[in-house]
Amino acid sequence: MTLLQDKVAIITGAGSGFGRATAELFAKEGAKIVAVDLNQETANQTAQIIIDAGGEAIGVKANVADEEDVKDFIDATTKEFGKIDILFNNAGIYAPGNVETTSIDDWNRSINVNMTALFLAAKHAMPHLLESNGNIINTASAGGIIGFPDAIAYATTKGAVISFTRAVAVDYADKGVRCNAICPGTGETGMTKELLEVPEIRDGFLAPIPMKRLGQPEDIASAALFLASDQASYITGHALPVDGGWTMS
Ligand SMILES: NC(=O)c1ccc[n+]([C@@H]2O[C@H](COP(=O)([O-])OP(=O)(O)OC[C@H]3O[C@@H](n4cnc5c(N)ncnc54)[C@H](O)[C@@H]3O)[C@@H](O)[C@H]2O)c1
Repeated sequence: MTLLQDKVAIITGAGSGFGRATAELFAKEGAKIVAVDLNQETANQTAQIIIDAGGEAIGVKANVADEEDVKDFIDATTKEFGKIDILFNNAGIYAPGNVETTSIDDWNRSINVNMTALFLAAKHAMPHLLESNGNIINTASAGGIIGFPDAIAYATTKGAVISFTRAVAVDYADKGVRCNAICPGTGETGMTKELLEVPEIRDGFLAPIPMKRLGQPEDIASAALFLASDQASYITGHALPVDGGWTMS
């Protein structure tokens, strides 16, 4: 028996990085996947990887910050697979800068994609999650826990993801829906690719990590699998650092 047998999982930001790795792992564990991404091509690629491996998946183009798009991917999920068991709110953006150098556009975009989108998806998925006794996982960041430099919009919104997770968890704990967050440290994904190609920047990110390696998409995927599965059935409102020990050191 696999850990997510016949579960239906929506994964946002599934066209790349943590989202794609999680989609692949959830599918291996028996879940049917709705791979949501702003990029239709990469969403479809993720779905195709799963189908080629013998699983079930669809790719859906959506801007997670747009309520109509959110309603559409929720509807597409129930139309295709009949229910929703897992919502992995994982899409996110990173805008560098401190309070002086961050533009109001970057600030608002960060709030919309990193925060409001999670509210919208939870809002429209909740009736289905209540029916399935499902769960939500939100991708926050180590940057939402510690004082993260030169990333005011990112750190602020990721801190809010942790508060949002706890608030949803407490509202729905007695109704059978769990909500947890994952706080990745620096990971090797599309988001960080260009930065990590600069040796000094890479060394700077590695320096504070006790395990002396960067996170891989599979590290996040296996944490998400645990939280999504019944193995975590007594865990809610938790923000789990997956960061090589960074935030505990
Ligand atoms: N990579 C890191 O070091 C790191 C660290 C901590 C947290 N995170 C978080 O992990 C999550 C996944 O990021 P990743 O590192 O895999 O990056 P990534 O860039 O590889 O993947 C993010 C995906 O989200 C999609 N996306 C962006 N905006 C979207 C929108 N409005 N609607 C739908 N899809 C959208 C992108 O197209 C992309 O495919 C993000 O929430 C990010 O903030 C990343």
